[in-house]
Amino acid sequence: MKKSVRKAIIAGNWKMNKTRPEAKALLEEIKPLVANAAGNVEVIACVPFTNLETAMTVTEGSNVKIGAENVHFEKSGAFTGEISADMLIELGVEYVVIGHSERRQYFGETDETVNKRTKAALAAGLKPIVCVGELKWERECGITEEVVGKQVKLDLFDVSAEDAKKTVIAYEPVWAIGTGLTATPDQAEEVCAFIRATLAKMYDEATAEAITIQYGGSMNAANCAELLAKPNIDGGLIGGASLKAADFNVIVQAAVNG
Ligand code: PGA
Repeated sequence: MKKSVRKAIIAGNWKMNKTRPEAKALLEEIKPLVANAAGNVEVIACVPFTNLETAMTVTEGSNVKIGAENVHFEKSGAFTGEISADMLIELGVEYVVIGHSERRQYFGETDETVNKRTKAALAAGLKPIVCVGELKWERECGITEEVVGKQVKLDLFDVSAEDAKKTVIAYEPVWAIGTGLTATPDQAEEVCAFIRATLAKMYDEATAEAITIQYGGSMNAANCAELLAKPNIDGGLIGGASLKAADFNVIVQAAVNG
């Protein structure tokens, strides 16, 4: 099958950046720039919890969708500081980043909790963006495929094919995140193709072909076109460059044209 059967998705991951007025200003700037992507490329801004309501209001009626950066797996209860899927749904949020390497590295996120969050998000009607990727030394040891294959299998354990098609996989080599070190287009394509082959084994070819796989890790205005031209790279999860409307738009336009 061809890349054209899949939805291209460019998602900004704002991380812990932007107050509400700043979020409003950035989204107001982004909206008109990316309006031409409607119906062609899905444009998402994943913003801090405190910005969600503002972001929903500012983007209403536009083609910019809003995502959260995490979600808890329980429906409610004594989980101080956590946010449930129902709380996000009630706000109108559509996407949620799950298992970002920063959460794995700093907040004790494991494949087991990523799997639980993914299933809870899907059950509530959210579309998860599940992040996977190897550490620098894992790549140097030659075990990138083992690491990423294990993450994909564990993170999507017990997720039906139908739900897997609503899930986005973001391949983010940890050594490339926020470092300015981007995987080469060939390195990124190799792993994204491997992820798709893994999904084909877990589900079937048609399901694997339908799942959007993004690359993330220092994707920017200068390198996006080459990355997005690769057959198994269907979009990007963008950190630093998503905080500048012009740069983010260059990436969106590369996806529109690619
Ligand atoms: P970066 O972040 O684009 O700043 O490297 C990507 C991410 O963490 O999703």
